[in-house]
Amino acid sequence: MDRSPPAPAFVVATHGRVNLIGEHTDYNDGFVMPMAIERGVRCAVRRRADGVLSLRSGGMGPEVVIDPAGPLLPGRSDWARYPLGVIAGYAARGFTIPGCDLAFSADLPAGGGLSSSAALEVAVATAIETLCGRSLDPVEKALLCQEAEHRFAGVPCGIMDQFAVTCCRPGHALLLDCRSRACRHVPLDDPGVTVMVIDSGVKHELASGEYARRRGDCRRAAARLGVGSLRDLGPDTWPSRAGELPDVERRRVAHVVGENARVEAFAASIDLGDFVRAGRIMVESHWSLARDYEVSCPEMDALVNAAIRVPGVLGCRMTGGGFGGCAVALVRTDEAPSATTAVCAAYRAATGRDGQAFVTVACGGPVVTPLPSTGAGDAIPPG
Ligand code: GLA
Repeated sequence: MDRSPPAPAFVVATHGRVNLIGEHTDYNDGFVMPMAIERGVRCAVRRRADGVLSLRSGGMGPEVVIDPAGPLLPGRSDWARYPLGVIAGYAARGFTIPGCDLAFSADLPAGGGLSSSAALEVAVATAIETLCGRSLDPVEKALLCQEAEHRFAGVPCGIMDQFAVTCCRPGHALLLDCRSRACRHVPLDDPGVTVMVIDSGVKHELASGEYARRRGDCRRAAARLGVGSLRDLGPDTWPSRAGELPDVERRRVAHVVGENARVEAFAASIDLGDFVRAGRIMVESHWSLARDYEVSCPEMDALVNAAIRVPGVLGCRMTGGGFGGCAVALVRTDEAPSATTAVCAAYRAATGRDGQAFVTVACGGPVVTPLPSTGAGDAIPPG
């Protein structure tokens, strides 16, 4: 009979993110301002002696078993490609991945634009670091997770999501300069204002193809203008160069240049407690994304139009990559409960669709909690 002590077990909790402003700017070396939200991913972890790495996730399909010492290559098409990509990244950096059980659960809508994949990646990264007893610098860790998404999921995302999930602090939004990777933690703790997330319930299949196409538009425009990235164009210099681009690229650049300026203006408004102005800037961002960047959709436009007419809502915009997913709103706290109901009712009246709204405070990065030993050594509680 095995009398070895029960293996230590722990739970990693990561948060999803909502981006307050700065959309489609991260891959243009610009500014973004996300915050971590109360929903996220939980990963229960337990070492095992046989060297096998097992991944389980309620509702996502059968258990996936990996040999962490074997070749860890892209090619999967299921949810396990995200954890696998992260495990491969740590193995490539010289970490010896021990056998373990990883059991996941989540309360983030998958594909809802709230970074469920980044929350999953960073949960796995944190689990590996905890198991191995050594950690990468948080910037390295976020970049490793981004690389996992590029190589193993084929999604050419920017750096915002993995940075937000890794680096956010409770009570703060993260103002990130995607070129220098400098972070400023902007206090978001005024009790009079709260953040509401509204899931449109719409997911358009074009999202990933169109995302890559937008990146291509930006790359071509930067090359035509002879700049390293669109970040190099400021609101002062851009107007004199606009005539050098064809119409579509001109509109893409107009959005990026305007959006970078909006992030800075939004952060300054939050610093000053001017939430009315902050809300107005969010709405400007939305229409720039809809008209110039063309990443919204009729349902999302209807949702934003409905939300900004609801008492207590100071501003609203689409958030994330676009083509459906979620909107984010700034709302007066005392009116938030009624606004939550009213926004969904107005959205339903406009589109016939059921949206889901919730309010959230700004949360922090990954949290590791040891699990009390049960003596059984093999029980992973459901997430
Ligand atoms: C997705 C990507 C991010 C970012 C946004 C758009 O969420 O993962 O890197 O580009 O779209 O702002």
